[in-house]
Amino acid sequence: MSQLELRPGLADVPVAESAVSFVDGKRARLEYRGIAVETLARDSSFEETSLLLLKGELPTQRELAEFDDLLRHRRRLKYKLRDLIKCLPETGHPMYALQATVAALGMFYPARDVTNAQSNWESAVRLIAKLPTAVAAFHRLRFGDEAIPPRDDLDHAANFYWMLFEREPSPAVRKILDACLILHAEHTMNASTFSGRVTGSTLANPYAVISSAIGTLTGPLHGGANEEVLDMLDEIGTVENARPWLEDAIAKKKKIMGFGHRVYKVKDPRATVLQELAEHVFAETSRPKSYELAVELERVAAGVLGPKGIYPNVDFYSGIIYASLGIPRDLFTPIFAIARVAGWLAHWLEQLKNNRIYRPEQIYVGKHDVPYIPLEKRP
Ligand code: CMC
Repeated sequence: MSQLELRPGLADVPVAESAVSFVDGKRARLEYRGIAVETLARDSSFEETSLLLLKGELPTQRELAEFDDLLRHRRRLKYKLRDLIKCLPETGHPMYALQATVAALGMFYPARDVTNAQSNWESAVRLIAKLPTAVAAFHRLRFGDEAIPPRDDLDHAANFYWMLFEREPSPAVRKILDACLILHAEHTMNASTFSGRVTGSTLANPYAVISSAIGTLTGPLHGGANEEVLDMLDEIGTVENARPWLEDAIAKKKKIMGFGHRVYKVKDPRATVLQELAEHVFAETSRPKSYELAVELERVAAGVLGPKGIYPNVDFYSGIIYASLGIPRDLFTPIFAIARVAGWLAHWLEQLKNNRIYRPEQIYVGKHDVPYIPLEKRP
């Protein structure tokens, strides 16, 4: 009998000491470096929040201006990278394109010496700056359009919108996109962050770290859920169908996408902020049918799933906002990655400060002393 106790999904098992962010799943409290995420979504910018996550403190005015300037001048992709993106199948998911592009970045910007703090900092800036360009480029090129070059006179959120649509967002749309990036920038020890930290613990280069985190984020139990929420709402179809659909789904033991969380046993605070933001978006666009349906599904689910501590998570309302801005469904998870890269990098830098390679245990449940039967004696 093994003395080891298996905790499936590493539930409640600490895997690092971290000062990057904090979550209290009972009080719906999420803080980045001690600051409430609602405050940051309202008063900060994605650029400032990224620097806060990376450095641990709110920057001075000068530090922020310098960081912002660095980001603006690192947005371009080398033409060889654009050609690489052009060669990817246009039917492939943009998350796979992003993962491939980030892995390839590591070949263009070698950064193997992760003991070099300056090189690590440059890699971090480059990754935050270039992810939106890579996502927008794949999106344009897959439809046979030219990629739209980044503009250094626009901030991070507005520039991303520009590269997608070749028009500037209204101030309200810019603010909402920026707030969505802030809300997705970090979330303690989730699957993709852990994945990045595991890769980082081998002293792999930062592009390998971020591409492994991106791969982990693709799954429907993690970042991929935001896309699936809209598919689910399409399937439900009407407000009247919300209750029968939910009851049927629960009877069939289906997971309701955009609901539930390992840590939150109440409504995810990010979902609450996103819902408030959605109201602002809908003042500019029309109020989509999917939103009414989502609100009704949340209402019905409160009675059925609420007693089990299953409430809407961040992915429940984000897709509805993006869709109302005209953003295609398969770009929802890439936008999550554009934001979360800041948190992944903060964790990577933290991991390197006090690194020990991750090498957990397993509980062996296989056979022993199995004889080898030569191939000719096997059927
Ligand atoms: N719908 C229906 N039942 C659920 C749901 C859900 N969305 N989430 C959890 N449950 C039930 C689950 O069936 C299980 O019930 P029982 O104890 O009777 O077997 C119980 O709650 C515990 O669920 P679990 O899957 O063991 O919980 P977990 O902590 O391992 O998983 C989760 C957390 C987020 C993967 C899960 O809630 C889920 O699959 N949700 C749907 C996908 C989703 O929205 N993912 C986005 C997560 S938040 C942002 C992000 O990471 O991207």
